[in-house]
Order: sequence, then structure tokens, then C-alpha cells
Amino acid sequence: MSGPLDRLRPHLPDEVWFRFNPRGIHGAPHTTRVLIWAATLAERVAPVPGAIRRDELLWAAAVHDVGRLDDGVDRGHGERSAAWVRAALADARPATRAVDLGFVAELCAWHEVPDHKIGRMSLELLVLKDADGLDRCRISDLDPERLRLQQARRLVAAAERLERATNGYGMVTAEAVLAAAEGNGDGVVLDPAAAPSPHHGPSGHRGDQTAQLR
Ligand SMILES: [Fe+2]
Ligand SMILES: [Fe+2]
Repeated sequence: MSGPLDRLRPHLPDEVWFRFNPRGIHGAPHTTRVLIWAATLAERVAPVPGAIRRDELLWAAAVHDVGRLDDGVDRGHGERSAAWVRAALADARPATRAVDLGFVAELCAWHEVPDHKIGRMSLELLVLKDADGLDRCRISDLDPERLRLQQARRLVAAAERLERATNGYGMVTAEAVLAAAEGNGDGVVLDPAAAPSPHHGPSGHRGDQTAQLR
């Protein structure tokens, strides 16, 4: 299979990385959806090459919840994910030796910290938090008002479609999530030139794409 999301394949998380329920609501299907939204938002928020630390952002999206011990608030899971990044990611994926793993770990550690406790939020953390927030639809807790970026608010409908297509927890893999997202052109556009503007979105295709994801 190849498609517009194919270049996210190297970032897909392995289920063995997750300490708790790898196919659960905070497992690989969730972090893969967050990876997809982080990549989409990065291209919409920072289309100029180098304007965002994309590789670090995408790795953080893929692994931000690997340190979870349960599906509750699980205070400290961001820091546990960060510790895993520092200790294990370079061996698990040698390609990550080319990225700043310290920054990946930092993003993981801060993703669970409330905004008001963060002095100065990096663009990467802002995108990670909204990408994570978009997948709150899986627990019926997606409030668009709580999303920080306008670009994220425009992805709410697409996030809900992708989640509906991939919420078979226990059965759905990271690969399956990526496959479901392929072709969902109005919500997942990794080419900024093709990204819909608020006034000229590709609404003519929306019906087909919605059907594909449902
Ligand atoms: Fe988390
Ligand atoms: Fe998460």
C-alpha cells in the first residue's frame, strides 16, 4: 500500500513499547491517530520547511503514552514516556538517532501538564496537545473550544470519522489506523498546497470520503 500518509509509516509505534494495554484507548491506535493529526497540523500551522521540528514532534506523538500504567489520569505517565524515550527509542528505532531525542522526551513529559502550568509553550507542544485533544472524541470528550489552534478546530469532523472507523479496541493495529486514514482527503492532507482553506475546501469530495471512513 502507498498513499499520502505512507511517509508516516516509519513513525508507527510498536505495540511492545506500551507498558499497558497496547491496543487499548491509550495504546497504539490512539497514538497513531495523534501522529496523523500532528503531521496534518504541522503542515497547516508551519508549512515553511524548518519552521517546526517535525521529526521530534512526530516521534513524540507516536510514543507520548507508552509509559502509561492505566487508562485513568495516571499522573506522571508523560515523564515515564519521556524516560522510555531516553532509554529505549534509539535502540528500538535506530533512525531516531538522527533526531533530538532530548526534545522528544521533553514533549512527552509536558504533554500531560495543564497549559496554565506551562510558562512558554513551544509550537511543537501546542500541536501535540491539540493532536492529542482531537482524539478525545474516542472517549466522547472532544470539546472544540478547548482546542488551541483554529487549524485543529477545522479537523474535528475528520477526527471523529477516523475514530469511528478505527475504534475496535483490541483488534485495531497502528497499521490499520494508517490504512483507514488513507484517502481521507478533506481531513488528512499532508500536502500544504492541497490543504483546504476556510473558503475553498474540497467539499465536492466530502461525501465519498465520509463514506469511506464510516
Ligand atoms: Fe497522555
Ligand atoms: Fe494521548
